[in-house]
Amino acid sequence: MDRDALESSVRHCYSTWGERYYADYYQADGAYPPIHTGIVRDLLSREKARTVLDAGCGPASMLRDLALPGLDRYGFDLTPEMVREARRVLGGQGVPESHVWEGSVLDPQAFAPVKAFAPVSGMDLALCFGVLPHIPQAADRVVLEHLRDCVRPGGLIAVEARNELFALFTLNRYSRELFRDTLIHEAGLKAAAGDEAERAALDSALAELDQRFRMDLPPLRKGYADEPGYDEVLSRTHNPFEMRAAAEAAGLTEVRTLFYHYHALPPMLEKAVPSLFRRQSVAMEAPEDWRGHFMASAFILVGRRAA
Ligand SMILES: C[S@@+](CC[C@H](N)C(=O)[O-])C[C@H]1O[C@@H](n2cnc3c(N)ncnc32)[C@H](O)[C@@H]1O
Repeated sequence: MDRDALESSVRHCYSTWGERYYADYYQADGAYPPIHTGIVRDLLSREKARTVLDAGCGPASMLRDLALPGLDRYGFDLTPEMVREARRVLGGQGVPESHVWEGSVLDPQAFAPVKAFAPVSGMDLALCFGVLPHIPQAADRVVLEHLRDCVRPGGLIAVEARNELFALFTLNRYSRELFRDTLIHEAGLKAAAGDEAERAALDSALAELDQRFRMDLPPLRKGYADEPGYDEVLSRTHNPFEMRAAAEAAGLTEVRTLFYHYHALPPMLEKAVPSLFRRQSVAMEAPEDWRGHFMASAFILVGRRAA
């Protein structure tokens, strides 16, 4: 799919979410608490940041909760409905309309207004949350480079991704994909099989492996009206090891992955003990715990532009 077609499907997917996204994902009773906003608040305060850009800011879902003294907030988003809502919400907090604009993280022009707002050297911190799933694999690096280039030398980027390795814990259709498409080199095994009998035995072993996973879970997320749902547009997961390497290849330093949205049990078991599951999952939140590689569904790749 070319970039225009992809972005138009993503825009369509998010077109109905502008006004409901914050209520559904940040405020609803069933929503997981916004642990990531707390992690970003810590980064901002440790960096003593005075400027922040949120690339793919949605309806200012995170920016609205980052109204910190002395911090200038900026954002852009691909979806016009999101931009409209972000301007409305931030406008109510005194942020000028010009601080929010429309653009794609894949387009260097989308980052051009940064020069006007931070003319000397760039932003102190650039965020990008919820966007990477919708970026084709070949363009991950471009996003990292655009974010790197819009912060000042010594500035930080913080990019969120859905954790591909969480599939080792979920035991559902994501696990099947990880086992069969990423970990096991099926073509290589088949080519190395000695004869027809060994190939047939391999096929049956792989079929047996599939039986281990709940292929009906999680349910596919559909759109609210006629727009495509989240699982009906490109919505990738990322490997934290590969992302750390990509950030280093892009020249970033002090690269770390901070994990959040832990699951105390595989999510399919949540309904057995919902309250215990939620309490213990929140209690597990520790961005640098190694268990996050497997038990957290999201991570934030943090890196510093060389000074
Ligand atoms: C899951 S929402 C996240 C919103 C917000 N960043 C947050 O974390 O609450 C994803 C947002 O990314 C935007 N988006 C998707 N692809 C984009 C792209 N190529 N450039 C900029 N924004 C994009 C969508 O329009 C949507 O508003």
